[in-house]
Amino acid sequence: MTASNRILRYSLAERVMHWVAAIAYMYVMATGLAFYSPHLYWIATILGGPATSRFWHPLVALLFVGTVFWMLGVWRSDMRITAADRRWNAAIDRYIRNDDEDLPPIDRFNIGQKYFFWAMLWAGIVLLISGMVLWFPEWIPWGWRAVRYASILLHVAAALVTVGAFIIHVYMGTAVVRGGFTSIIRGEVSPAWARMHHRLWYERVSGK
Ligand code: HEM
Repeated sequence: MTASNRILRYSLAERVMHWVAAIAYMYVMATGLAFYSPHLYWIATILGGPATSRFWHPLVALLFVGTVFWMLGVWRSDMRITAADRRWNAAIDRYIRNDDEDLPPIDRFNIGQKYFFWAMLWAGIVLLISGMVLWFPEWIPWGWRAVRYASILLHVAAALVTVGAFIIHVYMGTAVVRGGFTSIIRGEVSPAWARMHHRLWYERVSGK
């Protein structure tokens, strides 16, 4: 509980971690989309020109993947999928109907939030490995050129997975779950919000 009788959902360090990941991701996504399609090449022009975008894209990508590993270090135990998540998932039709009160209780994150995190982590790992091949193709002997071709396909496929996951994440966090966005900015939620959306977590942190 904080001084104003609210519950701390994200510490300052967690919020900094989140927003470094978010800003880095949006830059890498925007420049990546510019390289993906000639129709989107204008994005690179807006972001300082194609050469600047090509220079910063892999470096900011390293920052993004680094922050996702930082998240893994901080949230690993919160992100484990549990029996409570499976019960909640089995009742997902109530979530869709906005009957949140009748859902089985869950801990700090719901199963959708957890899948989102794991999707970003695994796609991030694929992007990192395939991206290194695209960054330094001269390291791959010509006889192994299948690795280069596979990397192009894997890089695009994993990037598109993150774009889909990102759109859902932003939509859920800003438009669907009221109070979520304030929590990742100011850190706090009301006890009623915590109880309604994450009852096991609420009971654990409030001792009620
Ligand atoms: C403009 C971009 C973004 C917005 C508006 C946003 C919004 C939010 C919000 C509102 C929450 C709190 C949800 C809650 O506790 O109920 C959250 C949590 C989180 N965000 Fe983001 N986010 C953005 C980008 C990202 C990116 C790029 C990642 C990449 C890894 C990310 C990873 C997470 C994770 C792992 C959590 C905790 C679990 C979850 O809620 O999914 N976010 N974000």
